Amino acid sequence: MKIIDQSLLHILTSWQQELESVTTQQALEALRIAYLGRSGRINELMAQLKTLPLEEKRAFGPQVQELQQIITQSLSLKQNELTRQILEKELSTKKHFDVTAYNPSSLEKPSGSLHPYTHLIERIEDIFTSMGFSYAQGPEVETEWYNFEALNIPADHPARDMQDTFWLTTPGLLLRTHTSSVQIHTMKNQQPPLSIFTPGRVFRHEATDATHDFMFMQCEGLLIDKNISLTHLCSLLKVFMRTLFEKNDLSIRLRPSYFPFVEPGLEVDISCIFCKTGCALCKKTQWIEMGGSGLVHPATLKACGIDPTIYSGCAWGIGIERLAMLLYGINDIRLFHSGKIEFLKQF
Ligand code: DAH
Repeated sequence: MKIIDQSLLHILTSWQQELESVTTQQALEALRIAYLGRSGRINELMAQLKTLPLEEKRAFGPQVQELQQIITQSLSLKQNELTRQILEKELSTKKHFDVTAYNPSSLEKPSGSLHPYTHLIERIEDIFTSMGFSYAQGPEVETEWYNFEALNIPADHPARDMQDTFWLTTPGLLLRTHTSSVQIHTMKNQQPPLSIFTPGRVFRHEATDATHDFMFMQCEGLLIDKNISLTHLCSLLKVFMRTLFEKNDLSIRLRPSYFPFVEPGLEVDISCIFCKTGCALCKKTQWIEMGGSGLVHPATLKACGIDPTIYSGCAWGIGIERLAMLLYGINDIRLFHSGKIEFLKQF
């Protein structure tokens, strides 16, 4: 060691003593600042050094440097030692850590839940895939052709008024008013036989109330093959509704109706799931309306390049909210998009 200067030796001894007594990271940091910090003792010595005559500088300078080195090295050793001590302490306390121990704070942590849409779509998916149907999707921003024309609804057709449309500023583009547009995408891209179901969001420029919303969900179904008839439609809907509502005695009723892309067009009702004699929910009729259906119109098949003399098909479109409201006892359709935590927490 080159240090012979008494004052430097004194500083070194006091550093060593103080370092010895340090037991925490904070105390070590305070000590580092006191010695190596900007106004610490080493910097004080450096400032002092500058004022010395050259001869003394030569003798004193290297000693100060050595002191600085010793302090820096012993500081980092001490740092390592403290870290090791902390780790050892943690390990010794965690050695008997019981992962199954009851932790009351974990119960208070907010946890997420699935949206009722997600619940229901998963159930719908299970039922249709078990019958050999595939999940199909289409764009929410549609062209007029996919949403209307290919579905046999030309521009001047009064049926366009049945679905008030959100038109985009780009001419010919709109927010799809129904998932029937996905039928067109599928039939244009795939050759029959084909069987799909298509849950998805649709948009209507309508005033809202407890049973109407400007944005809601539908699930379309489509089956195209040779010799498809109303029997297929009827039994598919029956199996679907019975499985979904877990009710083996549930009946299906098809009533004549009009949708330009099917012929005949039929309204689908199910027997009331709450009563046998008439209640408030079925408006004393014992039937609940579920959606539209029918046999795919030859004009629609043709628009998609499918020969209606060889193939026929059946299709249906059902409101997902309607199903969810019945299944989960929800009384206002607007709750689905309300983002209300109290509502969502129940699922
Ligand atoms: N797209 C119709 C609507 O939103 C519902 C519908 C009716 C779908 C008949 C169909 C169908 O597939 O065959 O009002």
